[in-house]
Amino acid sequence: MSSPTPFDFFAPCPRGLEAPLAAEFAEIAQRLAGTADAQRFEVGAQVPGGVHFRGGWAAAMAANLHSRIASRVLLKIAERAYRGEQDIYALAAEQPWERWFSANETLRVDLTAIKSPLRSLEFATLRVKDAVCDRLRSVSGARPSIDTAQPDVRVFAFLTATVCTLYLDTSGEPLFKRGWRLDKGAAPLRENLAAGILRLAGWTPGTPLYDPMCGSGTFIAEAAQIALGVAPGVERRFGFEKLKQYDVSAWQTMKVAALDAKRRAGTNKTDLPIFGSDISGDMLEKARANLARAGVPSLWLKQLDARAIVPPTGEPGILVANPPYGERIVVRGPRGEVREPRHASREAGAEAFGRAQPDALDGEFFRAFGDALKQRFTGWRAFVLTPDRALPGQMRLRESAKTPLFNGALECRLFRFDLVSGSVKARPGSQEPQG
Ligand SMILES: C[S@@+](CC[C@H](N)C(=O)[O-])C[C@H]1O[C@@H](n2cnc3c(N)ncnc32)[C@H](O)[C@@H]1O
Repeated sequence: MSSPTPFDFFAPCPRGLEAPLAAEFAEIAQRLAGTADAQRFEVGAQVPGGVHFRGGWAAAMAANLHSRIASRVLLKIAERAYRGEQDIYALAAEQPWERWFSANETLRVDLTAIKSPLRSLEFATLRVKDAVCDRLRSVSGARPSIDTAQPDVRVFAFLTATVCTLYLDTSGEPLFKRGWRLDKGAAPLRENLAAGILRLAGWTPGTPLYDPMCGSGTFIAEAAQIALGVAPGVERRFGFEKLKQYDVSAWQTMKVAALDAKRRAGTNKTDLPIFGSDISGDMLEKARANLARAGVPSLWLKQLDARAIVPPTGEPGILVANPPYGERIVVRGPRGEVREPRHASREAGAEAFGRAQPDALDGEFFRAFGDALKQRFTGWRAFVLTPDRALPGQMRLRESAKTPLFNGALECRLFRFDLVSGSVKARPGSQEPQG
């Protein structure tokens, strides 16, 4: 069904990525240019934690399929001032949910609130759930079952101090679940945070990109998909596919185009200047499997200690890293043998494994990593994501910028270091950059 009336949508995203998401939406709107819905993707206000937009179904489907940064796409159903749970119940009970889904679909209701005066948000959530179920029973004689794990349909309620907004989810599983990252380590980075960081870093395809602690390969897989034009949602299903109304034929056209693009990407023979390394052979195996599922050709992947890295290419580029935080790791080689990292080898490019060194990830590690950047990565820009605000001090580098970002609930900083020749801002006690 086509949608003559534009809808209001809200796309939540990791806090700190609102501006990159709005910029991404403007590009997705461009994709729709020339189609009947071209006029119907209007990027709206950025608010903490998301971006509003307005459009038809094509806009919502394209946002789901192509956005790398949004966590979900929510269709706004109703909004009204409230004082208590009864007002919220009444608002939810008035909505014609039966237009969107039937009692045969399973349901989940979530509620988030900022400064709400209500005593129990759990009770408010139950009232929304009751209202939706009561509404469907009154029109169809049956209530939907609740399924919190794998619901067909999700309703979201958002409360401010005075206003309740109801949304119907169009995404299903959160959008950072692309479907390709089945192998991951203990602390993987959310895919949409990785994609947002690439945009904040100003990385564009063609510029060398290096992640020297790549783990399961999130940064490099996202970057390679961007370079090859592979849509992040090409292999997954979306919540709107379970709704009674959405533009089925426009969706089929979009999906076929995305699958074709992924197929073409798989036959790409050009070497992408995207590089990953990690000290753990196990992690590199996971990264390889993830990259294959993400539809990108094999990339340069090496087992290296981050303290011993050298630029993988002659042209300076962008280095991104999400170092381990507050953990001790055991390193496994490609055949599963346990190795532990020793102190940094000063020999550039050496694969530093061998003698046991229990506290490999202490200040010494970050100091040596900082030295490697200063001494060997002149001309590069490095972006390091960490919850540890003291990290630049430990690396003995002065950041050029720091951006607060959230990895799930964990507040982090994205530190930027400009490793420009002769102007690396070194902290006292650090080794001066060479060259
Ligand atoms: C927080 S994880 C990175 C997660 C990654 N961004 C992902 O999405 O999977 C940190 C990574 O640093 C690696 N690591 C730890 N010590 C290292 C070292 N000395 N040199 C290189 N990599 C190291 C770990 O093996 C782990 O994969």
